[in-house]
Amino acid sequence: MKFTKNTQALFYNLKPHPLQQMLDFDYLCERATPSVAGIIHPGKSSFHKAFFGAREIIIPIYPTIQEAARKQPQAEVLINFASFRSAYQATKEALFEPTINTIVIVAEGVPERQSRELIALAKQQQKLLLGPATVGGIAAGAFRLGGYAGGMPENLIRAKLYRPGSIGLVSKSGGMMNELFNIIARVTDGIKEGMAIGGDLFPGSTLLDHLLRFEQDPEIKLMVCLGELGGKQENNIAEAKKAGRITKPLVMWVSGICADIFPWEAQFGHAGAKAGKEEESAAAKNQALREAGIMVPESFEELEPLLHQQHQQLVAAGRIVPREELSPPALPKNYEEALREGSIRKATSFITTISSEEKGEQAYAGVPITRVLAEEHPLGSAIGLLWFKKKLPAYFTTFLEKCIVLTADHGPAVSGAHNAIVAARAGKDVISSLCSGLLTISPRFGGALDDACRYFKEAKETGKTPSQFVEEMKQKGIPIPGIGHRVKSKRNPDKRVTLLKEFAVQHFPTPYLSYALEVEKITLQKAENLILNVDGCIAAIFLDALASCPAFGKEEIGQIIEIGYLNGLFAVARSIGLVGHILDQKRLKQELYRHPSEDIFYLKDSLFEK
Ligand code: ACO
Ligand code: LMR
Repeated sequence: MKFTKNTQALFYNLKPHPLQQMLDFDYLCERATPSVAGIIHPGKSSFHKAFFGAREIIIPIYPTIQEAARKQPQAEVLINFASFRSAYQATKEALFEPTINTIVIVAEGVPERQSRELIALAKQQQKLLLGPATVGGIAAGAFRLGGYAGGMPENLIRAKLYRPGSIGLVSKSGGMMNELFNIIARVTDGIKEGMAIGGDLFPGSTLLDHLLRFEQDPEIKLMVCLGELGGKQENNIAEAKKAGRITKPLVMWVSGICADIFPWEAQFGHAGAKAGKEEESAAAKNQALREAGIMVPESFEELEPLLHQQHQQLVAAGRIVPREELSPPALPKNYEEALREGSIRKATSFITTISSEEKGEQAYAGVPITRVLAEEHPLGSAIGLLWFKKKLPAYFTTFLEKCIVLTADHGPAVSGAHNAIVAARAGKDVISSLCSGLLTISPRFGGALDDACRYFKEAKETGKTPSQFVEEMKQKGIPIPGIGHRVKSKRNPDKRVTLLKEFAVQHFPTPYLSYALEVEKITLQKAENLILNVDGCIAAIFLDALASCPAFGKEEIGQIIEIGYLNGLFAVARSIGLVGHILDQKRLKQELYRHPSEDIFYLKDSLFEK
């Protein structure tokens, strides 16, 4: 199996990070096509977005290996990220797919019995298995088997893995393979192919299997193999050398010589790294390899100079022709990473001054919510902080809470409640029905508060008498916001207004309320329902509360009135009642409402025809 710039893989299990690592390697190698052709995510059929350089690409997701192989027959490799519980089944299925001839089993902990069965099956199918428990491998400048061989992009570049060299490397350990990538890049023209077979006792392919593959690759001029104590793989290499099956220069090292200083059998990191017998010790293996004619340094530290020497000899003999060193394309950084590093900057899209997180706790205008909750009037305090960015005095927070309680509902007949109820009975969900009610708030219903503020403030501050103000509004044909009610009147006063007036006069001066009441005296002369309604009453008292609070300067008050805070207060309050009506209707399982036709006057156009 040769890995080229056109080799493509299927990826078993959606693991975005290693998958992106493969694609980033593709980009560094300047591949024309991504190396991942499809993803198998059992039971899912969709797609995954990933980067190919700076460009986003779509990778199809298939529910089964069979479907993926059928749809992507050019994909010859399966990178199997199944867990140790399902790696066997997935690998077995893949081995029977004619288009898949290499399988990388990443999982650690695959039972030995399953590994041995898969090895036998792979041999029978003449397919290449890498792993279990491997990071995979790399065909430099061409294809990355898995997402972790070679390490992070910086290491891929440092080890010059983005272009092919002349060295074939095989190791049991993935970490040591990555370390050797750097050593080899320092003293030779770099890696052509590097493979980590994993540290299990029964690897899908052995160190010798890959050395024999390297023997078949004309671009590999020098082979490097890193073994470990335990097992017989390295001895088999010595035998193969003696038998003439290995002809290319081979530099080897068996790690684990420190095991000899332990007075007991030391089990090293890998499952297979335990010398059961003397001949399986690192020292014995290194000696056996030397006796077979393989180049083995006296220590791991001497591996690098030996490699350098061997490489120089091959260059001098013309067996390795140094190539011009080209730099890889710069891999685009992920946005979050670049932002974190400070290598890019972006103007923020939003500004907030009212909300933050203080030591893991939400804060309103910098006040942690635990402190807000501990206030005497927590709801009024929360509004004070989030709307006004101020810690309002008790009379103000009390006023706000009274407004909310008193305007929370006014029965099902009012237009907002009616529409919310009709929507609920039409089967709309709570939020949609609530929106239906809230969207009814208007200059005539529940939405006159801000205009009442503006008109009362302007009239009073410009010295208009109430009668001048009323007359002016009449001349303009504008109904005075905050005046008038459909059912409340002088004889049927609005209790809400009564209660708010009583509170206000007891807690702060009320010049604006007095002004509004003078206006009411005049409008009542016209009709008894032209009372100061709850919108107007709240508006006038709000102006008094602001004027009484030293925390608010004239300019800020002007800004508050210009923006208009009070219609929002009504919406917050009335949402409580609207949700109540919606829930009531749903509990009652009320059917669709249809207005009775007899209650509709069908005005014929003919009436207007002269
Ligand atoms: N200012 C001056 N004159 C008024 C006002 C007003 N706010 N409201 C009604 N009038 C006059 C009308 O001009 C009309 O006079 P006309 O007969 O000379 O034409 C007469 O009173 C009757 O007008 P209608 O609109 O039929 O009276 P209605 O009782 O139906 O009006 C309403 C009630 C819609 C609330 C009205 O008073 C109004 O629009 N007010 C201003 C908006 C407002 O404050 N809404 C809040 C209501 S309370 C709440 O929603 C919680
Ligand atoms: C309300 O608070 O909704 C009412 O005062 C308005 C109305 O139409 O009764």
